Amino acid sequence: MTREPMSFGNHLMQSPAVAAVYERLWRPGFTRLFSLGGVGTREAHDALLADLAPAGSSRVLDVACGPGLYTRRLAAGLSDAGLAVGVDLSGPMLRRAAADNPAPQVAYVLAGAEDLPFSDAAFDVVVCLAALYLIPDPHRAVREMCRVAAPSGEVVVFTSLRTRLSSLPGVERLLAAGGYRVFGRDEVTGWLREAGWSRIEHRISGQGQFIRARVDHGR
Ligand SMILES: C[S@@+](CC[C@H](N)C(=O)[O-])C[C@H]1O[C@@H](n2cnc3c(N)ncnc32)[C@H](O)[C@@H]1O
Repeated sequence: MTREPMSFGNHLMQSPAVAAVYERLWRPGFTRLFSLGGVGTREAHDALLADLAPAGSSRVLDVACGPGLYTRRLAAGLSDAGLAVGVDLSGPMLRRAAADNPAPQVAYVLAGAEDLPFSDAAFDVVVCLAALYLIPDPHRAVREMCRVAAPSGEVVVFTSLRTRLSSLPGVERLLAAGGYRVFGRDEVTGWLREAGWSRIEHRISGQGQFIRARVDHGR
């Protein structure tokens, strides 16, 4: 696959310095930015992860996992037969993941979200947190996430949202210049529905949206 030139945002994600401070400073700051104009965005984020809490032999994929902070958290309830895989395109991020967030049930893989190196239906839970907006072809990444998720499982996304704030003159253009995309309210859910994941919980808070999608088996 030919890749577009790397955006400024993704250049930052390739920096060992950013990777070093990501978990302690960068991500908490970003979560605060997401909370602008919203009530309880941080709480909604924590609640999402607490609700997910994969257990037993579940297979979990964390797409664009950064330094693995959530990969390890998602692996916490897994048994010896479970597995959580974090995938990212940034070597420095994955080196931090291996150093800071190792766990017996966790593995990290260097790969692009648009071409996930896994077979169809390989995972029970596929998440992509605070990253879809940086992925050059997010539609393709969502299709890939749906492909590798088992139809009995779920696909979970936390990402950006077009709001009154981001619609102020010049704001979206400025964000786009940094490689940061703002999604319309029905854009990502539309891609999920298109892939057959039509049982959707969609929560909006501040500048972010939380999406949980399952396949509707008519039950
Ligand atoms: C803001 S971090 C999010 C990390 C983590 N998911 C979190 O919730 O904090 C975004 C990550 O997306 C990764 N990324 C960007 N484009 C990617 C792509 N096409 N494929 C895989 N990872 C990508 C970056 O390297 C970076 O580690």
